[in-house]
Amino acid sequence: MKIAIVLGTRPEIIKMASIIDEIIKRNIELVLIHTGQHYNKEMSDNFFKDLEIPSPNYNIHIGSGPHGKQTGLMMQGIEEVLMDENPDIVLVQGDTNAVLAGALAASKLHIAVGHVEAGLRSFDLTMPEEINRKTCDICSLMYFIPTEQSAINLLSENISRKKLFITGNTIVDACFRHLKIAKKRGIEDKSLKKLDIENMNNIITLTMHRAENVDDEERLNNIINALSQLTETNIIFPIHPRTKKNLKYFGLWNKINEIKHIHIINPLNYLDFLLLLSYSKLVLTDSGGLQEESITLNIPALTLRYNTERPETVDAGGNILVGSDEDNIINNVRKILNDSSFAENMKSATNPYGKGNTANLIINTIEKFYKEGLLDIRLPDNMMPSFKRKITMIKDKITVKEFEKKNNSLIHLVYDGEKMRFPHDKLNIKSMMITYDQY
Ligand code: UD1
Ligand code: UDP
Repeated sequence: MKIAIVLGTRPEIIKMASIIDEIIKRNIELVLIHTGQHYNKEMSDNFFKDLEIPSPNYNIHIGSGPHGKQTGLMMQGIEEVLMDENPDIVLVQGDTNAVLAGALAASKLHIAVGHVEAGLRSFDLTMPEEINRKTCDICSLMYFIPTEQSAINLLSENISRKKLFITGNTIVDACFRHLKIAKKRGIEDKSLKKLDIENMNNIITLTMHRAENVDDEERLNNIINALSQLTETNIIFPIHPRTKKNLKYFGLWNKINEIKHIHIINPLNYLDFLLLLSYSKLVLTDSGGLQEESITLNIPALTLRYNTERPETVDAGGNILVGSDEDNIINNVRKILNDSSFAENMKSATNPYGKGNTANLIINTIEKFYKEGLLDIRLPDNMMPSFKRKITMIKDKITVKEFEKKNNSLIHLVYDGEKMRFPHDKLNIKSMMITYDQY
């Protein structure tokens, strides 16, 4: 079997690392394609080194640019590689332009697409990421989904349950493995070392790069105003290149640099960043990955957004959406710092993203599909099957699998009272309402 992986940005390298590791361990042939969307050493190369993954076989060197151009050039480059390499499956991760380009290029070549971190929805179509996720989920053949809630999103969009696999999120694999390594190695980054975080009080890790915040002068200014009032804290801010560029563009660079308790440094390598997190009282962020890492490492998170495609973290109590509202930011930071039972509750939120064995589960499932010939995309042999979509209330004790066998059907969604449930094979559906396709 040959697996191709398409990645292009910092979070994709981090979240694909354990999958790459697993592929190599199992001696499966791997083709690693980097689109080059992130190209600075501290946004790309450093992660290959820290996470101990091989250099890409191909780098398309796309660089920065507007969405259409960036995605179009990526598609062209990825298509050429895929035509040469002809892999059995192409894996993409998350919601960046690489995901969109990889999924479109592969599916049009009739190569199976596996979407890692599928099913997330913010329901906010102003986010380029929401468009990328949804489009990728139309093109995919296998969906590796972090949580049941995201799986229900896909079922609600009429995607067949047979292609959905709830595996957790590979960020947990990365956090668990690399925090241990980081603790042994200690801080390496010179700027972080100089800050002497071991002896600092009230450390807050701040990251921010989302277009809705950093491309909007008013929001950016609101957030800076809030931060400037938190004089009792030390805010460590490894700055994303997009944010640095925009702060300069809006004339806010000097303003933020004059705030004594904000310490701006270059983006950190993964091990140093995990160490910084481990010293932090809380995280202020608009990053997707950081909302997941915070709950994994038991650090309260305040998310600088008005919606999230990771609602599980909010439901679990580990994450609060504060938007870019000054009072909201300040009040919630102070509550975490001063109200220990409030902070403890946030810290003890249950991590919804699995146990750290996500890559293993993903590759097991791909191997099974490969052996059963299910990765092949061919012209259908038979006449289009006809089926009726039905709804019924189940009175008797019966599992999903038993019902499907008895009725030659596929259950779509299960309603347990007001709650939507994922139709796991062994779920007993007595007294539940189901929708199903009958063949
Ligand atoms: C991209 C993803 C976003 C993801 C983020 C992770 C899309 C649409 N966006 O956003 O979903 O959360 O990566 O960090 O795919 N720049 C550099 N050096 C680099 C990379 C970027 O200087 O190595 C600067 C350039 O000025 C560029 C800007 O940052 O124009 C934005 O980069 P881009 O890759 O377009 O989007 P991100 O904001 O990084
Ligand atoms: N990260 C890092 N160094 C930094 C900032 C972030 O290693 O200076 C890691 C962080 O641990 C997380 C990932 O980068 O795993 C998040 O990336 P980003 O916020 O750029 O993208 P998003 O997750 O929002 O797509």
